[in-house]
Amino acid sequence: MKNHLSNRINSMATSATLAMAAKARELKSEGKDIIGLSLGEPDFNIPDFIKEAAKQAVDDNYSSYSPVDGYADLKQAIANKFKRDNGLTYGLNQIVVSTGAKQSLANIAMVMLNQGDEVILPAPYWVSYSDIVKLAEGVPVEVATSIDTDFKMTPEQLEKAITPKTKMIWFSSPCNPSGSVYNEEELEGLAVVLRKHPNIFVVSDEIYEHINFRGGHVSIANIDGMYDRTITVNGVSKAFAMTGWRIGYIGAPEWIAKACTKFQGQITSGANAIAQRATIAALEAPVSSIKYMIDEFHKRRDLVLALLGEIKGFNLNVPEGAFYVFPDISGFFGKTLNGSLINNASDFSLYLLEHANVATVTGEAFGNPNCIRISYAASEKELREAIGRIKAVL
Ligand SMILES: Cc1ncc(COP(=O)(O)O)c(C=O)c1O
Repeated sequence: MKNHLSNRINSMATSATLAMAAKARELKSEGKDIIGLSLGEPDFNIPDFIKEAAKQAVDDNYSSYSPVDGYADLKQAIANKFKRDNGLTYGLNQIVVSTGAKQSLANIAMVMLNQGDEVILPAPYWVSYSDIVKLAEGVPVEVATSIDTDFKMTPEQLEKAITPKTKMIWFSSPCNPSGSVYNEEELEGLAVVLRKHPNIFVVSDEIYEHINFRGGHVSIANIDGMYDRTITVNGVSKAFAMTGWRIGYIGAPEWIAKACTKFQGQITSGANAIAQRATIAALEAPVSSIKYMIDEFHKRRDLVLALLGEIKGFNLNVPEGAFYVFPDISGFFGKTLNGSLINNASDFSLYLLEHANVATVTGEAFGNPNCIRISYAASEKELREAIGRIKAVL
């Protein structure tokens, strides 16, 4: 049958992380004992005080459409959070609440990019950046980093990637998938370059802000000259284990926030009302209320690094945040393992799924073909078992 779908969707890649999770689920349903380390999803339950706020919102009949950009008292809680955690002052007219940070990013792409505008993506980057940019007819410009610079883009690399068509740079810190965290000095280094190019805008995706084992998260909007052209993206999915509740938000210059609200008003309207009410409780709570999860991720990171470090051929950086390790496994390329020729990271990831029953994600999806991503948002027992199996089949 003729393909009647749009070029837009035909040229879009399926989210590799969701595809791997679906494949793992399918194999599980066939009775295979799969351990899923492919999804970026905390394995904790939502803290009780957030559940209580949601129940209260149901009883209080928060059942109508909310304002497109979010309830005013939620936006106030977000403004307070930006002030408390990031030292950033955003007025309520600079904040937009969306259906997950993913929608925040899609809004930004749709309101900021014209056809052919270039967006610099330090690679590895979060899996959806590239396709969201392409959907908005922008052109992703990948800047390859490696384990030697802890997967961070240097000012020299940024400078070299800039052309007259450069409109934006998008990055996450802590980074999904590398776990790398840009410190103040590194952000200042990038800002030195950006200050020479006043028409380049920055998307700073800080959704893993609290899952930072070194402490001292820095927002690039706080660096001299950056506030007026940075869109700070955040959300509650990761820190509060609220992935399914779908609440993300931005702090941005007012004209960008206004445009995002206009766009969202034609696409989805305001985010889910009950989840917005629950988010107020999440953001008003002291960060200490989620410390138990961060401490647990920290412990697991150390465990995973120790266990993977015992496997020859895994070249690892020490991720300072998020809940992923991103080993360089290119040493296996060209080798045949149990009859399977490993040509690239996708072959390697598939090999682990088929032979070790462990789901990981190929680094190719994140713009780095030498690595795989392993999520340690899983129990210690599962992590020990999974890495034991990986070791056995290698
Ligand atoms: C770096 C990064 N940004 C944004 C998102 C999207 O988060 P949300 O669940 O709020 O849509 C994710 C989720 O995996 C992520 O890892």
